[in-house]
Amino acid sequence: MFSKIFLSSDHGGFELKEKVKRYLKKNCIDFVDLGCTSLEPVDYPDFAKTLSKKLINENESKGILFCGTGIGISIAANRFPHIRAALCTSVEMASKSRKHNDANVLALGGRILEEKLALKIVKEFLDTDFEAGRHSLRVEKI
Ligand code: RB5
Repeated sequence: MFSKIFLSSDHGGFELKEKVKRYLKKNCIDFVDLGCTSLEPVDYPDFAKTLSKKLINENESKGILFCGTGIGISIAANRFPHIRAALCTSVEMASKSRKHNDANVLALGGRILEEKLALKIVKEFLDTDFEAGRHSLRVEKI
């Protein structure tokens, strides 16, 4: 389970963020949108930083980041020691990112993923728990 979901994107991920927001609303899942708010160009590291700061001491909370490919914003978020951001392009990756890596942030590429697949990835990420066990020490070693 998770206590809060934070969303953040640059302009390349803005449209997919809006679609994910519609999905979350439809499913009565609360979220906080940290921007951006339009297709106006912005810098993805700024939005990765804003979301990452929200997750400090928020062990049960999750984040979803979006940029054009998901690459830049996941690289930026992973500079923060408490962030384990997983760039996922399949449901299997989303599942493993939670079960094995205890990822607390999902990164998606707005110019890469079709909406239907993106929403399946989001659902899997939010519904899947960390398996702990043998994976705990590995995650601690990060
Ligand atoms: C912005 O044009 C684009 O570079 C950005 O959204 C992202 O894809 C970077 O990794």
